[in-house]
Amino acid sequence: MSSYDLIVIGTGPGGYVCAVRASQLGQKVAVVEKRATHGGTCLNVGCIPSKALLHASELYEEAQNALGAMGIAVSAKLDLAKMMDFKDEGVKGNVDGVAFLLRKNKIDHFHGAGRILGPGKVEVASRNGDKQVLDTKAVVIATGSDVAQLPGVDIDEKTVVSSTGALSLPKVPKRLLVIGAGVIGLELGSVWRRLGSQVTVVEFLDRILPGLDGEVARQMQKILTKQGISFKLASKVTGIEKAGTGHKVTVEPAQGGAAETIAADVVLVAIGRVPYTEGLRLPEAGIALDNRGRVIVDKHFQTSVPGIYAIGDVIAGPMLAHKAEDEGVAVAEILSGQAGHVNYDVIPNVVYTFPEVASVGKSEDELKAAGIAYRAGKFPFTANGRAKSNRQTDGFVKILADAETDRVLGVHIIGANASEMIAEAAVLMEFGGSAEDLARTCHAHPTLTEAVKEAALAVDKRAIHM
Ligand code: FAD
Ligand code: NAI
Repeated sequence: MSSYDLIVIGTGPGGYVCAVRASQLGQKVAVVEKRATHGGTCLNVGCIPSKALLHASELYEEAQNALGAMGIAVSAKLDLAKMMDFKDEGVKGNVDGVAFLLRKNKIDHFHGAGRILGPGKVEVASRNGDKQVLDTKAVVIATGSDVAQLPGVDIDEKTVVSSTGALSLPKVPKRLLVIGAGVIGLELGSVWRRLGSQVTVVEFLDRILPGLDGEVARQMQKILTKQGISFKLASKVTGIEKAGTGHKVTVEPAQGGAAETIAADVVLVAIGRVPYTEGLRLPEAGIALDNRGRVIVDKHFQTSVPGIYAIGDVIAGPMLAHKAEDEGVAVAEILSGQAGHVNYDVIPNVVYTFPEVASVGKSEDELKAAGIAYRAGKFPFTANGRAKSNRQTDGFVKILADAETDRVLGVHIIGANASEMIAEAAVLMEFGGSAEDLARTCHAHPTLTEAVKEAALAVDKRAIHM
């Protein structure tokens, strides 16, 4: 029987990062992964393939609509199979990279489904039925999440798809109906709209992107509508019926009322994700779950059973790769006697549409609900030199600072490259910085980040370029 300091079950962003950090700290580590490749949802069927298609489809749209105005005459023709190859190569590069990192850090890899027999004992069942039991001082559950199902809707990953199927459609659907105006719905809806689909998004709530700042969500809905995506808010899908090669989708107002039918070639179900713990034997091992099926952990990521820890999508908190990674590092450090910690107040959140949406910290809605007095500074990209010269002026930066102390409590950006710009806000907030600190920091010209500085100046009503 092999014996380890730590066994990590699942090699998504949470699991593999945890394993690498623990190995760096001198622990003898093994990982158990049932998928053929490492990297979990994120690298195989999530962040990486979706961003590859978002990038490629954005360039395709630019080639069709924007390059001409710059004096670049091209005639863009879509080769979808090749675009999918581009995406798959990106995935391969990333998953191979994780395999390399595990080897480099001398982490043993067991391919198969992990099952917890009890504290210190993990069974690995390989596909061919072989089983072996590994002995360990600590176990980290990093088994991630799975697609949330809509009752009565059968996802066949062909014409009724989850995000996984929507990342590999063999042809551009003429009409795509997306259920859920969350991150996946808007990102993958954008991909297929750019490639030629008519996209309708049906959302249960009366707004898109729940959880994000309300003003940001309203602005994004306007921008995406202008791009050609139709929204049916406060609506629910009550039936999907096969009709020829496509479907007839019945949609009703969320609060009840007259139903309508929408024809679609492909339906994308994107109504959230649920923690994945199947086959782990958690109840038998005495590991408690909450009412949403998430593994309950204490502030040291320990489950209800000493020696067994959990991180990432399988526990509470935002289902984001970087949150899972930071938890992986924290638990590895805790297990090595260090003070591992995750600051949940400063976890950036990005939607990779065009323009991108990026935020960190509190939204205006949250500050109002909590009764916290704040000052808001806002600066539009229409007044930013770089955005104007690039003709990418949609969006704004909004900074929310404590009315009394000026400490930055939230930053919200809609704009090209917002995903990169949010990092300076996160660093500022980690250091407890104020809007004044940001406003007095020299920003290179001409850059989009000058809009961040101007928004910080606007908190004190002294933006220069407005
Ligand atoms: P996962 O990545 O889900 O990994 C869990 C691993 O555990 C899997 O490989 C699974 O095979 C394995 N496993 C499960 N059970 C067992 C078992 N019993 N034995 C052995 N192995 C097991 N997040 C972002 O931050 N940015 C993005 O841009 C982004 N885009 C996304 C796009 C899509 C389409 C989707 C679906 C998700 C996206 N996410 C994004 C979310 C992100 O993928 C997850 O938050 C992240 O993968 C969670 O990491 P994890 O390590 O907790 O779990
Ligand atoms: P989501 O939670 O972002 O959005 C789901 C949407 O579906 C919500 O707006 C919800 O109100 C709506 N909804 C729920 N039930 C519905 C119903 N019956 N009918 C109509 N609408 C309904 O979930 P999504 O988009 O599936 O993504 C899952 C998770 O994956 C996200 O929470 C996010 O954490 C992660 N992700 C992150 C990305 C990023 O960071 N860029 C990209 C993609 C996914």
